[in-house]
Amino acid sequence: MEVVVCKTKEEASAIAAAMITAAVKKNPKLVLGLATGSTPVLMYAEMAKAVKAKKVSYKHVKSWNLDEYVGLAGTHDQSYRYFMNKNLFEKIDIQIKNTHVLNGLAKDPEKECAAYETQIRRAGGIDIQVLGIGSDGHIAFNEPGTSLNSRTSVVYLTPSTIKDNARLFFKGKEDEVPTRALSMGVGTICEARKCILLAFGKGKAEAVKGCVEGPVSQFCTASALQMHNDAWIFCDEAAASKLKLRKYYAWRSATKLGI
Ligand code: F6R
Repeated sequence: MEVVVCKTKEEASAIAAAMITAAVKKNPKLVLGLATGSTPVLMYAEMAKAVKAKKVSYKHVKSWNLDEYVGLAGTHDQSYRYFMNKNLFEKIDIQIKNTHVLNGLAKDPEKECAAYETQIRRAGGIDIQVLGIGSDGHIAFNEPGTSLNSRTSVVYLTPSTIKDNARLFFKGKEDEVPTRALSMGVGTICEARKCILLAFGKGKAEAVKGCVEGPVSQFCTASALQMHNDAWIFCDEAAASKLKLRKYYAWRSATKLGI
């Protein structure tokens, strides 16, 4: 696991975006796993900048998103499909037919999840998976107590996630946040060839500590990334503040990246 500690989230987002841009340039048919939430927004803006500057094209890239709320249509302004269209897909030259987000209105959610796994497999698996981290250590919506081998399925949000997401996206209205979601599993995520997790702000410091230095445990599902051999954690100083070896990680990753 490489932990890249940057002074600001702007700096971390730019470096992570450059990593994705370079990978798409190298393989124009890259398969991306994408995340929603407040954290990747700056990175997506940097990716869009590179497309605008004609440094890279997403024309042949395919994407699969991590999760979607149960009960929200893709046209709902709080759905993750809507978020992705607005924050990334409409700003790059990806073909919308090549973008995949779980259907929160699926009549048979378990069938929807199984089909999603099949689609990913048929595409040859995910090359780079983008991740955020919940303040309770979740990746995608894999809350504490989820098996680290879990596959894409219907999941149940914790009260703390509902609170976090209401604050950030539902104008504080907790009762409007769906309590269930469809989510890629931890096992599904860990099959990606590379994982890039972003974490910013002191509210994520405890979760980052659990992810990087805690025991591998279903209590902090992000800790499963310790078993992945190409996982990159991009943090600002606040999110890295509880890491015992933060100075060492910062030096090692900066040396490897040549930054
Ligand atoms: C979103 C997702 C979640 C978020 C996490 C952090 O697709 O899978 O795991 O990454 O809840 O959310 P933010 O970035 O809003 O703090």
